Amino acid sequence: MAVIFALPVGAFAQGSSETNREKDNTKNEINSKTQKSMNTLNKNEFPQLPYAYDALEPFIDKMTMEIHYSKHHKAYFDNFVAAIKGKEMESMSLEQIFANISDLPAAVRNNGGGFYNHHLYWGNMKVNGGKPSAKLNAAIVKAFGSMDELKKQFSDAGKTRFGSGWAWLSKDEKGNLFVSSTPNQDNPLMNVAEKKGTPILAMDVWEHAYYLKYQNKRPDYIEAFWSVINWEEVSARFE
Ligand SMILES: [Fe+2]
Repeated sequence: MAVIFALPVGAFAQGSSETNREKDNTKNEINSKTQKSMNTLNKNEFPQLPYAYDALEPFIDKMTMEIHYSKHHKAYFDNFVAAIKGKEMESMSLEQIFANISDLPAAVRNNGGGFYNHHLYWGNMKVNGGKPSAKLNAAIVKAFGSMDELKKQFSDAGKTRFGSGWAWLSKDEKGNLFVSSTPNQDNPLMNVAEKKGTPILAMDVWEHAYYLKYQNKRPDYIEAFWSVINWEEVSARFE
């Protein structure tokens, strides 16, 4: 039984067909079909990367993208499906699972988080990703004073995350933006998060996200990340 997770970002509709996925794989640009598939997360379907492995060069290299997506992300997906198989969680939305994550097995927390977090991360990266919408820009100015200050806080959240984890830009229940960081594969939707909200921008700071190109220089990767933010997608998630 295919269950579409009720995710908090965008309109999550039925997945694209196999034929469409094959066609989309031949294109480097995000087109309307891949945009649709990017906003789709079905527990029985490993989501398609919305661009080619080399689409984010030179900021994120092709080999990193290929291993990150086809090995790491795929493993989180496979292990998550295995962890919920035949259990009550199979009929729960990801949102419900994350809201109750402190009571669930570690395998669900780690792999469910890894499955969801990477899906957000791929979607919020694009070369020439435009600018924040007027509404998002106003919210950034309200929360941080300026885009420069957001960049500083977000980058610092990634740089100072000890070990592996994520930096986030999220909106709280009042619609106000905030920056946070989570360890491992946790995210702001989880009831264990220090700051809870709906993530609209995700940055992976696990070494597997940057080590091949940037080695131990996480700050260089973070600086490069700012060149591939898909502000059109982040704005859509915000609104
Ligand atoms: Fe990752």
